[in-house]
Amino acid sequence: MIKRIAIFASGRGSNAEALVMAMRAGEIHGTPVVILSDQAGALVLEKAQQWKIPTLLVERSDYKTKEAFEEAMLDALKPYMPDTIVLAGYMRLLGKTFISAYEGRILNIHPALLPSFTGLHAQRQAVEAGVKVSGCTVHFVDTGMDSGPIIMQTAVPVYADDTEDSLAERILPKEHATYKKALALYCDNKLHVNGHIVSIDE
Ligand code: GRF
Repeated sequence: MIKRIAIFASGRGSNAEALVMAMRAGEIHGTPVVILSDQAGALVLEKAQQWKIPTLLVERSDYKTKEAFEEAMLDALKPYMPDTIVLAGYMRLLGKTFISAYEGRILNIHPALLPSFTGLHAQRQAVEAGVKVSGCTVHFVDTGMDSGPIIMQTAVPVYADDTEDSLAERILPKEHATYKKALALYCDNKLHVNGHIVSIDE
């Protein structure tokens, strides 16, 4: 049964692009039914039009409270009937209102080896910490920040002369590759969560 995927993105959308292309190539048994953004000018919305994928723009500033904002997102998604939410560079923390509606069916990519360097500018945090290895993490989303059960991680070397940008550039292609693998396994129902440990059917 092909999973119906809603992709959330706030910016450039390179992760969204990697996943859409992999779904279209049949490498991931899912179909992108809608792309939602919280940013009016997000490049990902233009890309979605080229990909002929419906788009939704739901802006936080249009709502008095976070709860109202998240209810609006849930309502806007209804017609597309997604069964999975894939966050791909979505720069906003989802709260209980939204998460409870998709418990266990929201994935995210983070450009660091969680639980290290949660939150924004993870690549900068890694460079400033002087670590020699960083990378990316695909995880299930819970109400914490970058704290849900870890699905898959890929390590990337960090060099002494790295900047936030040079490290981000080295991690990004690994994000695409890791997210494609993780989402493919998820769509084939090969991921199982026990407490906060994820096991994968081989
Ligand atoms: C990626 O590094 C992602 O890990 C982080 O923000 C960036 C989004 O890039 N959350 P893109 O929009 O997928 O190109």
